[in-house]
Amino acid sequence: MMENHVKLPQMKSQTPGGKSKGIKRHPCLRPLSRDHLLALIGAQKLMKTSRQEISIEEGLSAFANIWQNEITIHLADEEAILPEFIKEDSDKERLLGDHKRLREFAEKLAEEYSDESSVLALAGEAGAFLDAHVRWEEREFFPRIEQTASKEEIERLLALTDEVEAKRSRNRNCDSRIRSKKKKQQQQN
Ligand SMILES: [Fe+2]
Ligand SMILES: [Fe+2]
Repeated sequence: MMENHVKLPQMKSQTPGGKSKGIKRHPCLRPLSRDHLLALIGAQKLMKTSRQEISIEEGLSAFANIWQNEITIHLADEEAILPEFIKEDSDKERLLGDHKRLREFAEKLAEEYSDESSVLALAGEAGAFLDAHVRWEEREFFPRIEQTASKEEIERLLALTDEVEAKRSRNRNCDSRIRSKKKKQQQQN
């Protein structure tokens, strides 16, 4: 597991009055929300690179690592799982459109570069885009799924995201939700 020493960014929801509070995510979307913390770290690495707080080399390699090991998997899981629960076409369009743009950014960032200032600008643009995508999902898109899903859909989503959680490296023997499920299965056998 990488980046254990990094303080995870706080996900906050914005209330109309501008005050923010911690997001309470429904369990059916929590595994995908946990992925978002690492995505936000990736975004921060890019934005710090563009502000020249860390070197281009350090920032781009940290991002490439998170991209390869975490974000690509997360995007594919969202695309495989979420569309059937989306009620608004605009949400589906934004989800897929943003993911396409993120893959284009990652591809460009992985290219050889000669012009330092354009790489700094690209890192800033990509970092801000990734940050905004995650915040849109947390503040608008995921809440809409939670609010519009039927009981049956919530159950199905829970089952699907349980599978996501089980295959994440963070959860090898350390996730309480899976552990208690396994315990119950053992008791039944
Ligand atoms: Fe996404
Ligand atoms: Fe996401």
